[in-house]
Amino acid sequence: MPPRKIIIDTDPGQDDAVAILLALASPEELEVLAITTVAGNVPLALTSRNARVVCELAGRTDIPVHEGATQPLKRALVTAEHVHGKTGLDGAELPDPELAVAAQPAVEAIVHHIRREPPGSVTLCPLGPLTNIALALQHAPDIAERLAGIVLMGGAYFEVGNITPAAEFNIYVDPEAAEIVLKSGVPVTILPLDATHQALITKERLDAIAAIGTPVTEAVAGWMDFYERFDLEKYGSAGGPLHDPCVIAYLLRPDLFEGRHINVEIETGSDLTRGMTVADWWRVTDRAPNATFIGTVEANGFFALLTERLARL
Ligand code: RIB
Ligand code: CA
Repeated sequence: MPPRKIIIDTDPGQDDAVAILLALASPEELEVLAITTVAGNVPLALTSRNARVVCELAGRTDIPVHEGATQPLKRALVTAEHVHGKTGLDGAELPDPELAVAAQPAVEAIVHHIRREPPGSVTLCPLGPLTNIALALQHAPDIAERLAGIVLMGGAYFEVGNITPAAEFNIYVDPEAAEIVLKSGVPVTILPLDATHQALITKERLDAIAAIGTPVTEAVAGWMDFYERFDLEKYGSAGGPLHDPCVIAYLLRPDLFEGRHINVEIETGSDLTRGMTVADWWRVTDRAPNATFIGTVEANGFFALLTERLARL
């Protein structure tokens, strides 16, 4: 079976970086057509730098990195240096990239690849705010029916919010973009905090990755040591949640995940609940299902996959 063609839209971010590494370590299953960057965890200049740093760390300077939106569709940018540090990749000292940003802007690149590849062959993998995806759908509505699907990290239901009491960060930053994506008709799969908070990189799991002893796993170990502080302090959890790698792991091993095809709407009106993903998990409305909302991940299988793949780089 030929590898699935994907475009990773991202705001690195240590967990984004691990997701990118997982994808690049899986060439038999995934062909990364491009990486597109968006402002989110840190401003665009840094997310673009960080995406190129990760590609060079993985030895994949052939991957084009296209710059996208500097801010959400309508709102002021909210960033998350409190989680990811000033650079967005705190925890490992890596040199500035030599790889240049691709000349084509992110939205044009997304539309170009989807129109060029056979219908139903490209999957978008957003790991940050959905601004670039929404802009692409607005500028080129024809791509909606050509896409195989969108598999994104964002939202929460039972877990509720991590940036406000009601909302998860990616959706909170650009709720209007999330609404456009969920109303697009594209098959959408959501990896929310409900699932990603089960993928905790405990000390044992991190030690297993660090024991591989390569420059890649040394960087991952440094990133995780820094990145997990926020969740340990906030939730008292046993390790940092690997949010974004769940998107790539879902493509590689969907059997590790379980969810429901339900209706998910986005709060865009209220300031109090801005960005809340109103997931009709119990099907109490007659609103049409529009997303596969993932509720669980088998964490040991997830980390076995991640560890085995990182060892390949
Ligand atoms: O809420 C978690 C999400 O926000 C992850 O994608 C993390 O990288 C940040 O972007
Ligand atoms: Ca992210």
